[in-house]
Amino acid sequence: MMFLLADQNKTFWFPEQASTFAPEVDWFFLAVTYISLAFFVLIVGFMVYFMYAYRERPGYKGSPEALHNNALEIGWTVVPTIIAVWIFYRGTIGFLDMMTIPSDTRDVQVVAKKWAWSFGYPNGVVDNELHLVVNEPAKMIMRSDDVLHSLFVPAFRAKCDVVPGRYATMWFEPTKTGTYDLFCSEYCGDQHSKMAAKVVVHTKEEYDAWFAKAQIPPSDPVEYGKLLYAKTMGCASCHSVDGSKIVGPSFKGTWGGEVALASGGTVPFDENYVRESVLNPQAKSRSGYEKASLMPSYQGRLKEEQISALIAYMKSLKSE
Ligand code: CUA
Repeated sequence: MMFLLADQNKTFWFPEQASTFAPEVDWFFLAVTYISLAFFVLIVGFMVYFMYAYRERPGYKGSPEALHNNALEIGWTVVPTIIAVWIFYRGTIGFLDMMTIPSDTRDVQVVAKKWAWSFGYPNGVVDNELHLVVNEPAKMIMRSDDVLHSLFVPAFRAKCDVVPGRYATMWFEPTKTGTYDLFCSEYCGDQHSKMAAKVVVHTKEEYDAWFAKAQIPPSDPVEYGKLLYAKTMGCASCHSVDGSKIVGPSFKGTWGGEVALASGGTVPFDENYVRESVLNPQAKSRSGYEKASLMPSYQGRLKEEQISALIAYMKSLKSE
């Protein structure tokens, strides 16, 4: 059992351990697994032996009914009870550790929506990656814009549902720098499996450098629009820039043309159409994209200059 735990890196059973929760979770999981395995071998072993030893054969007559044995009855009641109570006790300790959020955490505002994650940091910095500092506890303050999602970082052994209409909080303390996977682990629609993100665990110096840079938006509107599209606002999860259809229409090649509406008729694809579609996506749904009514409104989440930057980026895609 220990040889599987000696290495801090990934094992046959587990991804690598990268948070303070991981060693406890793995140890406890293996303990329960090996206890179950021991009982399986014991019970099946006796069963097979009894089938052989008490088989019907000439000269042997078995008892027609099960006999009573007080010592056995008490033994196989008391021993599993003690083990079950111990499992409950250890599980509760681990659970309470995960539920008790320390007071000195670094807070991240997490927004889950179909089908992207966004992570908010101080000074309005928003990114589609979760940036953390090694050996510093972090608290996720999470909300959903639409349906039930669940934030899961396997390397941290941490998972928590994000329920619409209320805040959910969870915490963890990364113990190793590096890049880890973050998944949505609650089925939330047809792009659920693509609702993933990266967790980047920095040293304090690296984090400060990243944060200083992230606070300054690019001065070129096209670059700014590209950043909003790809990282900050998560447009990329539903809109491609290469002409392919994901969920919503691609940004490429539409600028300056006419848009066929689901309600019939056409409107020009221009600044006003983009602005209205971002702030009120259901106002003029495109024909063939009735599912685009899934798109949440970005009213209050995008500043006017950010909408302008996105428009500049869309325009730049036409000329490519
Ligand atoms: Cu969000 Cu699955």
